[in-house]
Amino acid sequence: MMDEIFYEMFEQMPRQGPGKAEYTKRALSCCDIPDYPQILDIGCGTGAQTLSLAENTNGLITAVDNYGPFLRELRKKAKRSVIHKKIQTLQSDMNRLSLKQKFDLIWCEGAIYIIGFNKGLREFKKLLKPGGFMAVTEVAWIKANPPREAVVYWEKEYPAITDTSGNINFIREAGYELVHHFIMPQDAWDEFYAALKDIATQMQEKYKDNKEAQKIIDYAVKEIEAYKKFGAFYGYVFFVMKN
Ligand SMILES: C[S@@+](CC[C@H](N)C(=O)[O-])C[C@H]1O[C@@H](n2cnc3c(N)ncnc32)[C@H](O)[C@@H]1O
Repeated sequence: MMDEIFYEMFEQMPRQGPGKAEYTKRALSCCDIPDYPQILDIGCGTGAQTLSLAENTNGLITAVDNYGPFLRELRKKAKRSVIHKKIQTLQSDMNRLSLKQKFDLIWCEGAIYIIGFNKGLREFKKLLKPGGFMAVTEVAWIKANPPREAVVYWEKEYPAITDTSGNINFIREAGYELVHHFIMPQDAWDEFYAALKDIATQMQEKYKDNKEAQKIIDYAVKEIEAYKKFGAFYGYVFFVMKN
């Protein structure tokens, strides 16, 4: 039941994490990839960034997620234009990717935290060609001295959170060259949370007599409120690196 409610909420969203086509494009412009690159998009969700990658490269994209209905939705969206020929989907756990080929570009927006930033850097590297590029977003402290309440919130949500320089150290220690990094501007969060708030409000009404469902919906609402209060101290950072 808990999972069903969670997925019902996120299936309706244009994307499943903060982001924007403009920022995907900005990170992509830092990747010096071949004309017809092989691309792996890990934790693609319903494919907001997959579609941007397809529109802005001549590549063949393998879009991976462990939740089948997200991949179905991605295929449906891609079918509306010729870009569907550039996208293939793969339902798989990112912790157990058994792909034989290596890629020119690995993309992972809002999902490397699932395997863990440091572990993901090392595991995904095995799937990257020498000289290949990887772009990921990771939530990080972007301002010093966050309030105690914010620290407590993140200790519970994602204890591995660090600051940008901590993440850059992980990138270098894993053997990559850091090509570029930037903090995802606030509009990416504002749009994401505006959509989430609308859906949460509708679902609060729909599930008003269902305590289990209310717990999941409240959790989303708390996340939005936390960002309103402490969002100046944390953000998603886009890291572009070279193997
Ligand atoms: C925060 S969402 C980001 C989705 C998308 N990249 C975006 O930015 O809109 C994380 C995604 O990772 C997927 N996911 C969660 N656990 C996973 C796993 N173990 N293996 C592969 N994908 C996973 C979820 O289904 C979800 O689509």
